[in-house]
Amino acid sequence: MRVLVLHGPNLNLLGTREPEVYGSQTLGDLNETITAAGAELGVSVDCEQYNGEGQIVDALHAARTAYEAVVINPGAFAHYSYAIADAIAAIRIPVVEVHLSNVAAREEFRRTSVTAVACRGVISGLGALSYELALRALVELQEK
Ligand code: DQA
Repeated sequence: MRVLVLHGPNLNLLGTREPEVYGSQTLGDLNETITAAGAELGVSVDCEQYNGEGQIVDALHAARTAYEAVVINPGAFAHYSYAIADAIAAIRIPVVEVHLSNVAAREEFRRTSVTAVACRGVISGLGALSYELALRALVELQEK
């Protein structure tokens, strides 16, 4: 199974960005953790990060034919990007939304996810484990 892991805006700054919220792992560390978890599950993982909304839409479109599933952390776009929500709905492969932090326990604006509406499921608040569990869920869903 091939899975695209898509990181959204500002996640390139992991490690130095609000470590009390997002932890001390850099994006490179996080990608290594995710790739290793994927290998244990027999999943081949590619990780990409974009700060732009259009770049994320383009990556979702390209994933349609190149991958069986997507794990996406849309960052702040989760809270207001109907373009990304529409792209997720359009590609018709399973997409799981993840967040490092527990968005339900933070500011009011983070409690809404317009992209989650189009996703197969959402995992939030577990750091790198959010991504690992998303991969596991996608494998189990594919086997059903
Ligand atoms: C985030 C949560 C979002 O609210 C925030 O804008 C991010 C990161 C997370 O992984 O916890 O950029 O998606």
